[in-house]
This record gives sequence, C-alpha cells and structure tokens, in this order.
Amino acid sequence: MNLPEARRRQYLEAMGIPLWERRSAPVTVLVEDAPPVVAETAPATGDWAALQVEVRSCTQCALHKTRTQTVFGVGNPKARWMFIGEAPGADEDRQGEPFVGRAGQLLNAMLFAMGLKREEVYIANVLKCRPPGNRDPQPGEVEQCEPYLLRQIAHIQPKLIVALGRHAAHSLLKTELPLARLRGQQLSYHGTPLIVTYHPAYLLRTPTDKRKAWEDLVRAKATMASL
Ligand code: URA
Repeated sequence: MNLPEARRRQYLEAMGIPLWERRSAPVTVLVEDAPPVVAETAPATGDWAALQVEVRSCTQCALHKTRTQTVFGVGNPKARWMFIGEAPGADEDRQGEPFVGRAGQLLNAMLFAMGLKREEVYIANVLKCRPPGNRDPQPGEVEQCEPYLLRQIAHIQPKLIVALGRHAAHSLLKTELPLARLRGQQLSYHGTPLIVTYHPAYLLRTPTDKRKAWEDLVRAKATMASL
C-alpha cells in the first residue's frame, strides 16, 4: 500500500467507515486523477476579484453589523467539486475561511477519504457572514446573500455540488423536505447536479450516521465519474 492510500485508510477509520465497506467499492471508483491544484491565491480574474471585494464590503443585511469579517470561500476557483455549507461559525468568522473549526477538520477527512484535497475543491457557504450565536440563517438573509453564491458558481462552473446539511440543502433547493428525502437523489441547483449529505457538525454529534454520509460521498464520486 502506498503512503497516500495508507493515509486515506486512516481517514476512513477516523470517519468510522468499516474497512470491509471500502473493499466493496473498488479504489478506481473512489480515486480519480486529481485535477491540478490551484490555490485561492492564484491570479484572480477581474470578475472574481471584484466579487470578493463586493462581498467583503457587503452591508445588505443586518449580519454585517455583527460579523468580524466576511467568509467568501476557499479552494480552487476552477474546481470540479463544490461543497456548500450553511454559514460561517465563530472560528470561520475569526479566520475568514469556511470550515476551519472541528466540523472543518471532519470535512477535510471526508474529502481525503474521497481522494480529494481541500485545495482542489471549492468550499463556500450559503451565507457569507456569521449569524450571531450560530442561529439558523433567516430566509431574508439567504435571499440577500444567494446572488453571491450564484456568481461564485457561475465563475467556478463546478461539475457537481455537494450540499452539506439540512440548512444548506433547504436554502439552495427552496424546499422543507427532510434530509432523509433529499439524500440519495440526484438534484440540481440552477442546472448544476447537486447531492445532499449530512453536515460535518451533525456527524460530530451523531457519529453513527457517518456510514450513511460515506454512502452519499461514494454516490457523489460515482456521479462525478459519470459526468
Ligand atoms: N458550518 C458551516 O456550515 N460552514 C462553515 O463554514 C462552518 C461551519
């Protein structure tokens, strides 16, 4: 076993994924050739840089009054994969980067288990500012902020979006259907295929559902391979 594969196995174990389950899924399905890594610091196109400036100075909803800073997104602005969460938490608000707290560490492990690196996918949230006390995003906030996400998607042109958790899925899909009804379906967000899975923060609280999350991620890999 080479080193990356050994590390991937360690991450799978950390996610609580039994080894026998991985053997049933051939590695060729799970690991594809990684696209070139382009860091966020790569020269940005005018549109992208302008969008970042616009988000940074946004005052369209009341969240600007309580944020430390906006959280635009991180990763490869030409990624094939886009992972979308709900909104920044306290750590993200402090550091200006999505998914940097404990949930972010689990997201990194999930990505690694899929054979992906954080730098090669794009990670963003529906909301670019932290709701105070980590309360749920309000519909008005989603409405104000969503155009930024749509412009990010238009620029990145991901092949597949993974919605992380119920709130992200509900905000994106404009539905109140329970997560159980949304998982396992190939959905679409403004024409881009979308798959719903559990939020890493939920998985930290409910590790018994990590296996189901892994099933979603395997399905997402298979979907990507078919695109
Ligand atoms: N939860 C989210 O949905 N997004 C983050 O960036 C962090 C935690």
